[in-house]
Amino acid sequence: MCVLIQLFLTASLLLCAYGILFDEILPQYGRSLVLVGGNLALNNSLIYHKIVTLAGGLGRAKLGIITAASSNPEGSYTYYQEIFRSLGVLQTTYIPVSATNSSLAQDPATVQLIQTQTGFFFGGGDQYRIIQALKTDNGSSTPALVALEERFTKGAVIAGTSAGLACQTGTIMIRSGMSWESLRHGAHDSYSASHPDDLVYEPRGGLGFIDGYLLDQHFSQRGREGRLIRLLADTRSGPLGTNRGVGVDENTALVITHSGTPEARAEIIGQFGATFIDVSRASVINGSGYYDIRDIFVSYLTHGDEIFLSNMTITFSTSKTLMLGHEQYSRALTSADIFGGSRRNPDRKPEFVRAATSIFDSRLDRSTYGDTKKSNPRFRVTMARTGHDAEGWVERRSGFHSDITSYKNMYVEINELKV
Ligand SMILES: *[C@@H]1O[C@H](CO)[C@@H](O)[C@H](O)[C@H]1NC(C)=O
Ligand SMILES: *[C@@H]1O[C@H](CO)[C@@H](O)[C@H](O)[C@H]1NC(C)=O
Ligand SMILES: *[C@@H]1O[C@H](CO)[C@@H](O)[C@H](O)[C@H]1NC(C)=O
Ligand SMILES: *[C@@H]1O[C@H](CO)[C@@H](O)[C@H](O)[C@H]1NC(C)=O
Ligand SMILES: *[C@@H]1O[C@H](CO)[C@@H](O)[C@H](O)[C@H]1NC(C)=O
Repeated sequence: MCVLIQLFLTASLLLCAYGILFDEILPQYGRSLVLVGGNLALNNSLIYHKIVTLAGGLGRAKLGIITAASSNPEGSYTYYQEIFRSLGVLQTTYIPVSATNSSLAQDPATVQLIQTQTGFFFGGGDQYRIIQALKTDNGSSTPALVALEERFTKGAVIAGTSAGLACQTGTIMIRSGMSWESLRHGAHDSYSASHPDDLVYEPRGGLGFIDGYLLDQHFSQRGREGRLIRLLADTRSGPLGTNRGVGVDENTALVITHSGTPEARAEIIGQFGATFIDVSRASVINGSGYYDIRDIFVSYLTHGDEIFLSNMTITFSTSKTLMLGHEQYSRALTSADIFGGSRRNPDRKPEFVRAATSIFDSRLDRSTYGDTKKSNPRFRVTMARTGHDAEGWVERRSGFHSDITSYKNMYVEINELKV
């Protein structure tokens, strides 16, 4: 009897100590996310370690893996489980929510699994499947999503890549679309098999772990600037619309802390950058058969830069210096395929980034332009450093394409070229 009581007390003490640890360790990071723009390289240990650290560190991290975006969720789980195991995270758990079985997100067993995790990783695929798995038809949260929200508030990190990034927004959620088709045909709230490249969004919105920003992924690499601008402009005054968007590049993460509070801030880590788009001052001329938009402001942040999400105040990494007065080239570059991304030459900066950063590195030019490759109609993107708050910052490497370049408050307009 005594022994039993002793055992019982020890177990209670242990459980209690665990509870204290659990609650003390997690909230210090507070409502944090690590969101990757896709193509996360296996050797990007900086990003993987950030996820593990925010989940409580090695030995403590318990990662729930959500692969509902995949067409093969269990296979996708095995893939991520092996990666996290190789990093030393021994406790990974498959969270069984799925687009094809919506009752899983209502199941108390699923909720219970979620409640014991210190972090969550959302894999890639199709972000619409994540919404089907975790939201009801009328857009309300399932019990599984409510449990995720509770864990997030208590300090569990939310991480994700590609679709696992796009789904985290509280605004309308982007589903698909190519930049030229988006500018040409505008935004649609449901998918049409006959126009597979048109711009489609989910009006129920994403999961809601980030406020006020539409999120997009594989951003510069796939030249998605046109689609994000058009989606913001078309939906900004509707339900769950917003004036702000951020597109995250491949193998690059946005690390957000204090999400959903006035102190919310994001740091960029990894190989490329994140494009912040503000259409709050933008005006659209959408006449019969043409589309013009002006007064868009764009910032591109790279490794080590930070931004306060509430007021878009930017701090560039101390490894960078102001380019003004130290420009390396005489003229800015133009582009004949402004939304071509890095399709043509993966070793160069993606087309939009290349043209934009060249303005800040030019002694003579204050503006440049790039045209869409597709015509009928052809669109022209004009970019300029005009206002006093337009600045380029750089960490010089061995040349234009390897320099790590950021800029803020670049003016952009898009006009349909009349033939
Ligand atoms: C990751 O691997 C690629 C080649 O596969 C290499 O170019 C890159 O430098 C590596 N990055 C790191 C951080 O080791
Ligand atoms: C769907 O999930 C529920 C709840 O976990 C389960 O009882 C049911 O068997 C599942 N249905 C299918 C077809 O897998
Ligand atoms: C939405 O659907 C859920 C169940 O699917 C239901 O419980 C809830 O009351 C509905 N909410 C609204 C506002 O219709
Ligand atoms: C704006 O353009 C879209 C297609 O690009 C069209 O569907 C819509 O009706 C236009 N709106 C106005 C006000 O002309
Ligand atoms: C932006 O917001 C942050 C966080 O609330 C605050 O510390 C900072 O002073 C603000 N910056 C400006 C310029 O208002």
